[in-house]
Amino acid sequence: MAGGDGLFRKNIAAMHGYVPGEQPRDRQYVKLNTNENPYPPSPAVGEVVNAFDWAWLNRYPDPLADDARDAAAGVMGVERDWILTGNGSDDILTIVTRAFVGEGDDLAYFEPSYSLYPVLADIQGANHRVVVLTGDFEMPDDTPAQIEGSRLLFIARPNAPTGNSFPLARVDELCAAFGGVVVIDEAYADFGDDSCVELVKRHDNVVVSRTVSKGYSLAGVRFGWACAPPHLIAGLMAVKDSYNVNALTQAVAVAALADQTHFQANVDRITATRGRVAAALAGGGFEVLASAANFLFVKPPIAADQFMAELREAGVLVRHFGGVRTRDYVRITIGTDAEMDVLLALPCVRRCD
Ligand SMILES: Cc1ncc(COP(=O)(O)O)c(C=O)c1O
Repeated sequence: MAGGDGLFRKNIAAMHGYVPGEQPRDRQYVKLNTNENPYPPSPAVGEVVNAFDWAWLNRYPDPLADDARDAAAGVMGVERDWILTGNGSDDILTIVTRAFVGEGDDLAYFEPSYSLYPVLADIQGANHRVVVLTGDFEMPDDTPAQIEGSRLLFIARPNAPTGNSFPLARVDELCAAFGGVVVIDEAYADFGDDSCVELVKRHDNVVVSRTVSKGYSLAGVRFGWACAPPHLIAGLMAVKDSYNVNALTQAVAVAALADQTHFQANVDRITATRGRVAAALAGGGFEVLASAANFLFVKPPIAADQFMAELREAGVLVRHFGGVRTRDYVRITIGTDAEMDVLLALPCVRRCD
């Protein structure tokens, strides 16, 4: 809790901030805990960074990041005025929440899903409308009734940490039925079979958010974007910080998004490894959920915390979430083939064969 002897707003004093996955510095780990891409970004990114004229850092960057907007627009198949860029897609989620949700308003999200959504609700002093996913982590049939009257709905598709992708037709129906704004968080869509970008064109209340953190191997550079109808983008522009995407990031984003060949090759490698690891773990007695993301959500045959501890001892980090629905599972990011072979060879994985 923030505390602060009455200085903070009540909702801030009472809230817990977002807890990011560990970025340890104490030793070398096989790091499969924060859904980063294990492969380097496009060599074009290296060229841009090496050629970047540091003397220009005395100037503010383009406040609208128009070159980067154009690059993102090209990826989405829309015009520039359908795009807002951000300091990672977390910045997009924050801007959207600030724009549409006031104190005492209702903000809806699913459980389990990305644990930033409740934090954003808390910061606004909003009410949480939590829709609990079904036993197989799907949207319940009465979702429209459960979220009615909310100002904003977050849908992570593919969902995190479960990895499944809600049926597109169900999401489409939900957008049509809902009176508020729907944010479809597509942080992991690069690894799935489809995207909701068409829904943005079909409905006037839909925002799709994307990132270069996963598919483009650029978690460190912090670049994401929103794709939405121009009337929403224009309003969101007024809410963002003036210079929310720094100059180096703008240049890097343009280079990375232009190299679709490198991007696709990396995504294909990761999805192939995902299939191989999923089959190996399922064969070893793990329950493995179908994944459209760059991670697997699995229930080990032994207690999840014991499994985690054994992995850590062996120098492999994965992520565990408390909570009734998630505590029996661990989330394993797909690393390189060599990293995944280290995982698959560990005694606590092999003895389950
Ligand atoms: C569902 C989901 N959305 C958004 C993000 C944030 O991504 P970014 O690095 O673009 O801020 C993450 C990060 O892990 C995520 O899991």
